[in-house]
Amino acid sequence: MELAAVILAAGKGTRMKSDLPKVLHKVGGRPMVSYVLQAVKGSGSKRIIMVVGHRGELVAQAFGEQAEIVFQEPQLGTAHALLQTKEALAGFGGHLLVLSGDTPLVTGETLREFLQAHQESGACATVLTAVLENPAGYGRVVRDGTGRVVKIVEQKDAAPAKLAIKEINTGIYCFSGPGLFDYLSRVKAENAQKEYYLTDLIEIYIQNNRPVAAHRAARPEEIMGINDRRQLAEAEMILRRRKIDEVMLSGVTVIDPGSTFLDQEVVIGRDSVIYPFTVIEGNSVIGRNCLIGPGAHLKNARLGENVNVAHSVVVESIIEDYCSIGPFAYIRPGCHLKQGVKVGDFVELKKTVVGENSKVPHLSYLGDTTVGAGVNVGAGTITCNYDGARKWPTYIGDGAFIGSNTNLVAPVEIGAGAVIGAGSTITKNVPPGALGVARGRQRIVERWSDRKKKRENGGAEPG
Ligand code: UD1
Ligand code: CA
Repeated sequence: MELAAVILAAGKGTRMKSDLPKVLHKVGGRPMVSYVLQAVKGSGSKRIIMVVGHRGELVAQAFGEQAEIVFQEPQLGTAHALLQTKEALAGFGGHLLVLSGDTPLVTGETLREFLQAHQESGACATVLTAVLENPAGYGRVVRDGTGRVVKIVEQKDAAPAKLAIKEINTGIYCFSGPGLFDYLSRVKAENAQKEYYLTDLIEIYIQNNRPVAAHRAARPEEIMGINDRRQLAEAEMILRRRKIDEVMLSGVTVIDPGSTFLDQEVVIGRDSVIYPFTVIEGNSVIGRNCLIGPGAHLKNARLGENVNVAHSVVVESIIEDYCSIGPFAYIRPGCHLKQGVKVGDFVELKKTVVGENSKVPHLSYLGDTTVGAGVNVGAGTITCNYDGARKWPTYIGDGAFIGSNTNLVAPVEIGAGAVIGAGSTITKNVPPGALGVARGRQRIVERWSDRKKKRENGGAEPG
């Protein structure tokens, strides 16, 4: 039978105390609702509808291509949210999976197990439940003496005896058969929060002799709902640990999982080693046999094989095989280091291409620069790429040697094989193979110290 899914994502997320809609808050580097979407895609659902409301245009903008968007305005509760999909689902006669946008830990596997249980039970509604040591904050599943589900009570409406129930509503349901929207419109907002609760539908179904089943999640840690930022951090920790387990099982050594932070999209090749205090964000890709960290921070970086990065930051840049970066280098967006490049301590690169086997070993700034292959850039070399109004490029040809403490005033071109004398301020192009020196000549004043002291002693020879 056909399967469609509705993700409820219209709530304000009051408890987040945020200007951003709750479902757009990021965990593991991605909006939390994107995980729900991913799990739903893995469940085999043909259609996905997302109900958006509070700052819904932001959510629609982010996910409009992956889901049909339905607006809920105003936001009067979860039952009211689902009711808004009535038109979109007119004529739909399959199974309807309903989820919340704030449960990012749920997996496609759990949804598949749940859907199977729903189909096997033949119920009109099945609720996914979980047994939690600490059920605080969740709706409680009330069963009768024979173990059948009777209703769900929200924490805020529950009598003390009900609060002791450890089986909770995950907010994930599956509905089949006609009448869903009719029953939904019978839900009343007579409760502590004056909201139309989707949970009340369970009791309405039972009163109307529509069979209701409950399925307990095999992995309760997956069903956590995020309502405030403490739970956001908790989910972050779980996702992080999941990701680290995944890379370790794929052949990556993570020395200290506790101080390693990997976004979900990150890819790391086998036999790479991640040292402590490392943060790898976005869609960074790291090849095999790399040594990353300690203290590395990579964001949307692409690293080849056998790359070392220690105590350094690499952002939106490409680093080819056998490069070595750091300690204390800062590779800003738009850089490309070809094979075997060394970028050493206290070096900053921006929009700079460095050719094969070139070295920028210490204390340099290269911006908007193209460096050829086999170049040595001496310590303290700086490109003066900005004149206060515009940025200008610098070109350094293959095999050039830039003496230490050189200023390259852009736009300027150093020819292949050229040598720049240390301490030069280069303002004109240097032809290939030439020597460029631009500094005051050294002067020697013999016996200057003695003569100075003699002057200070009023002409007498120093004693
Ligand atoms: C809800 C359930 C609770 C369950 C818990 C699981 C209800 C009444 N309660 O509580 O039984 O244990 O989830 O995490 O359903 N939303 C809308 N429109 C609205 C209100 C909410 O789209 O008008 C969306 C929210 O964006 C959110 C989801 O529905 O993604 C759940 O809403 P939330 O306010 O977080 O419900 P809980 O109090 O967590
Ligand atoms: Ca919630």
